[in-house]
Amino acid sequence: MATYVVGPAAEFPAGTHRVITAGRVEIGVFNVNGTFYAMPNVCTHQFGPLCEGTVDGTMTASAATGWRYEWTRDGEIVTCPWHGLEFDITTGRCLAAAKVRLRHYLVTVEDGLVTVTV
Ligand code: FES
Repeated sequence: MATYVVGPAAEFPAGTHRVITAGRVEIGVFNVNGTFYAMPNVCTHQFGPLCEGTVDGTMTASAATGWRYEWTRDGEIVTCPWHGLEFDITTGRCLAAAKVRLRHYLVTVEDGLVTVTV
């Protein structure tokens, strides 16, 4: 395993994300409401640059809403820029296919510096 510096935590506020190169792989690092997550910058569909997509929420419907759609999970969903598959940043799961899940890498904040271990 190797550890890579992402940057100062002070320059990485909640709601932002960036893609870094860690050795031979690209990794998306996200700050979701103050918690950092990192996952491969590779979509499971056709290997598009998933983590370069927009971070937003998604539309969901459930019995609790009377099966009406409502906007949820704001700031927790990344959308692949190629064909629009959505992934939950906090779990790595694809919203359209619950069995599909991207791995997460360990993100650490120490002495004000964000690092990711691959
Ligand atoms: S490559 Fe990501 S949705 Fe197709």
